[in-house]
Amino acid sequence: MGKSESIVLFGPPGAGKGTQSGLISQITGKPQVSTGDMLREAVASQTEVGVKANDYMEKGLLVPDKIIIDLIRMRLLREDAKSGLLFDGFPRTLAQAVELDGLTNVTMVLSLVVPDEDIVNRITGRRTDPHTGEIYHVVHRPAPDPIKPRLVHRSDDTEDTVRNRLKSFHDQTSPLAEYYSERGVLVPIDGSGSMEDVSKLVKQSLINNFRG
Ligand code: AP5
Repeated sequence: MGKSESIVLFGPPGAGKGTQSGLISQITGKPQVSTGDMLREAVASQTEVGVKANDYMEKGLLVPDKIIIDLIRMRLLREDAKSGLLFDGFPRTLAQAVELDGLTNVTMVLSLVVPDEDIVNRITGRRTDPHTGEIYHVVHRPAPDPIKPRLVHRSDDTEDTVRNRLKSFHDQTSPLAEYYSERGVLVPIDGSGSMEDVSKLVKQSLINNFRG
């Protein structure tokens, strides 16, 4: 049997990957896999992976490749991965990208392009609903009043940590744009507009580039 075909959702921290992933999953039928969410679950349940990863995440540093690659290998064994996945926040290093190439065909990399100056505001204002996973923003997408008391502010969403996360992105992750561009699968999308504007651009990119 041939390799599955997967999509990568690429971009700096706070670019809107999580916000747009539901729409992309719905249109392409590919289940979303966020390594950030997987790691946070591992931290919350204090597994061995979670304990190791926590220090890196709190500092805004990338978790070592071996830990991430093991998580992805396990995830790809599940039944719903047979037709490929939508990877959100993975790969983030060249080693991860090369490993992924051995596991699935990356047919499209949707790259949300957002300037650094917008990122700090987006991230420090983010609030997440732990019951539904819905992502809100105190200004750009306020949550309904009844659920406000249960919203969570991620512990790595502070201004200092965001600056480290941006540095990790520029030093280790952004070179992947060239890696995928050379292979003709990179689809840059202007992610700086409103959520609705970005969703329209995402839909248009899928119409133009996704052969499902
Ligand atoms: P992860 O959870 O992946 O964090 P991230 O990449 O930093 O991305 P975010 O979840 O912060 O942002 P997003 O792009 O999903 O934005 P969102 O849609 O929420 O990773 C966390 C940590 O885990 C890493 O630092 C690292 O330590 C580790 N890790 C994870 N994967 C790894 C890997 N592969 N290798 C090594 N380490 C790894 O939007 C953000 C906010 O902006 C929200 O409030 C939203 O409402 C708002 N917003 C969204 N779009 C717009 C818009 N268009 N206009 C205005 N506001 C908007």
